[in-house]
Order: sequence, then C-alpha cells, then structure tokens
Amino acid sequence: MINIAIDGPSGSGKSTLAKNLAKKLGIYYLDTGAMYRAVGYAALRAGTDIGDAAQVEKLLGQIDFRIDYINGEQLVFIDGENVTPYIRTPEVSKAASDISAHPCVRIKLVSMQREVAKNYDVVLDGRDIGTYVLPKTPYKFFVTADIEERARRRHFELISSGIEKDCEDVLAEMQSRDDADSNRSLAPLKKADDAMLIDTTYMSIEEVIDAVSSKIMME
Ligand code: C5P
Repeated sequence: MINIAIDGPSGSGKSTLAKNLAKKLGIYYLDTGAMYRAVGYAALRAGTDIGDAAQVEKLLGQIDFRIDYINGEQLVFIDGENVTPYIRTPEVSKAASDISAHPCVRIKLVSMQREVAKNYDVVLDGRDIGTYVLPKTPYKFFVTADIEERARRRHFELISSGIEKDCEDVLAEMQSRDDADSNRSLAPLKKADDAMLIDTTYMSIEEVIDAVSSKIMME
C-alpha cells in the first residue's frame, strides 16, 4: 500500500496539497482533521463538557461515528447523519482541538485511520500522521507557512464560506490552537525526523504539489 503522510499546522496548505495529490495519484484522501471536528461537533451538540474526560468517553460510547466517500468526497457521519457541512466553524475548530487531547478520542480515531491505511492507497493529512499514526511510511511531509500567511488563508476561507471574522481574531485563535496542538502530551503536532519540510509561504499550490510528487517519484 502507498500511504502518504502530510502533517502541519492549520492554514499551512496541507489539506489542499493532500486533496490534489490524491487526485493526481488516483488514490484516496483521508482528512483526519475532519474526524476530530466531527467528534467535537457531536460533543457541542450533545452539551458534553469537553474538559471532562469521563463525559467525553461516555459520548464516544454513545455515538456511531463513521466516514464514507460519496462521489469521491469524504463525508463524516454521526448516528447516520452527514455532519460534514457543520464542522468548519471556528467553534468546531476549538472543540476539535480540545477534544483531540483526550487519549480515548485519539485511540479510537487513530485506529480507524490505520485501518484505512492498511486497506487502501491513501494520502492522510493531520498533525501526527508521520510521527504516530503511520511512523513506518517512507512518504512523510511536514507543511508549514508563516503564521500571518496562514491566518490570511484561513480568513479568506471563512469569508468565502460566509463566516465574517477579523483577520487578527483568526490569527489569535490559530496561534492558540497551534500551541494547544503542539503541547498536548499524546501525539502532539510535530515534524517527524524523517519528514521533508515544505514552507509554503511563498509557494503556489502547483509548486507545492510538484515538489511533493517529485520526491515521491524518487523514493
Ligand atoms: O486539520 P484541522 O484544522 O481540520 O484539524 C482540527 C483539529 O483536529 C486540530 O486543531 C487538531 O487539534 C485536531 N487534529 C489532531 N490530529 C490530527 C488531525 C487533527 O489532533 N491528525
């Protein structure tokens, strides 16, 4: 199986890269952030106290969480309902980051991710794919960019989807989420020693895809 790990902070361009690369190679794309977002969304909707590990564990036992691909697009389902349209708000971003720190959540989602990687050729993007989910894959990339540029991109995405927010607020929230993701004890956001570092601050998406594709061809 070909498993390609793409990690990096929010707004680094990793999902755009992962999605386009999967299309170019004709393989699956697994957006692992969407999985944490779906569980965070389920917790918000159920009124779960996300800081309380026991409540989070109880919620996990109660919900039926699935991912599926419809017309090539990855969708996330909670109790049979497609919740994909609701998981991109700033509230859900924060809930996803908070809930992802609980070991019970990571254990469940990581085992689903490994199962996909075992059965399919897939590009996975996330925070811990190269370090923790698939440490043995030879294809590892760590994508980053200056925080101002990452905030500008995320701000543009939010505005495009009809969510009004100041760019400074987006930057502050992004910074605090990156800090939390980098400092949690289990599988923090971190470049794997053997991952190729790509700074996308001044690169177009085509240049990034070319850089990654040629590295894969060389392996
Ligand atoms: O990538 P995205 O911004 O959609 O991820 C949302 C949140 O999910 C991240 O801030 C992070 O806390 C969590 N996450 C994670 N591990 C991953 C992917 C996402 O902890 N592999």
